[in-house]
Amino acid sequence: MARRKKLYEGKAKILYEGPEPGTLVQYFKDDATAFNAEKKATIEGKGVLNNRLSEFFMNGLNQIGVPTHFIKRINMREQLIKSVEIIPLEVIVRNFAAGSMAKRLGLEEGTPLPRPIIEFSYKDDALGDPLVPEEYIIAFGWASQQDLDDIVALALRVNDYMSGVMYGVGIKLVDFKIEIGRIWEGDFMRLVVADEISPDSCRLWDIKTGQKLDKDVFRRDLGNLTDAYTEVARRLGVMPSNVTHATKPTLIN
Ligand code: TMP
Repeated sequence: MARRKKLYEGKAKILYEGPEPGTLVQYFKDDATAFNAEKKATIEGKGVLNNRLSEFFMNGLNQIGVPTHFIKRINMREQLIKSVEIIPLEVIVRNFAAGSMAKRLGLEEGTPLPRPIIEFSYKDDALGDPLVPEEYIIAFGWASQQDLDDIVALALRVNDYMSGVMYGVGIKLVDFKIEIGRIWEGDFMRLVVADEISPDSCRLWDIKTGQKLDKDVFRRDLGNLTDAYTEVARRLGVMPSNVTHATKPTLIN
């Protein structure tokens, strides 16, 4: 069998050429990084969980009419996606102060914000993904004002969907990051949610206990990351509780 062509390898995922034009295969690795890859580890089972969780969220978004790049899951670690032109921005939505915002403004983590706040970082690892104002985005041509209006509308819909889904399973959506891609259909361009939505790119706190169920467990050495992600998957009914063992063959008597 011919080997698939690798098109791009990032910190947590690999993109391969897809089976048809306009498609790609997105592979979820077990690698975790934080602080712009200063901290690294391989966490067994993370890729399998994020593949499933991202499938779950992207499917839900597609079903409520929020367009995404997701087509279907292929296997434990891979999904078929539409090929998009990624806008070089990290679109961050915050409902409660945490992480870099809490630090920057001296706010206690968990402080409710007066309304969802959206911010943009310029996607550039060498620069450490710096926060950028809208004026930079337009002036440097990364996106137009119309694109930005559409991106904000998309991000707020993702926020309402994700907040509701997570609230239903006793989890608070503190903040999250999405990426947006362009799909060209002839002369017509559509913006879609791309990349992944998973506990790698969200802050998720148990509503009752405040326990962290996201990548902060790794960033801040708070315990076992796969256990946290498995708990999110279990609550959402996305997969059986023994998922982390699913990467290994199991003898059936
Ligand atoms: P921050 O508080 O560190 O700026 O992070 C805000 C949200 O964005 C949080 O849910 C984690 C997510 N995030 C990423 O997905 N990738 C990143 O590189 C960073 C810095 C944050």
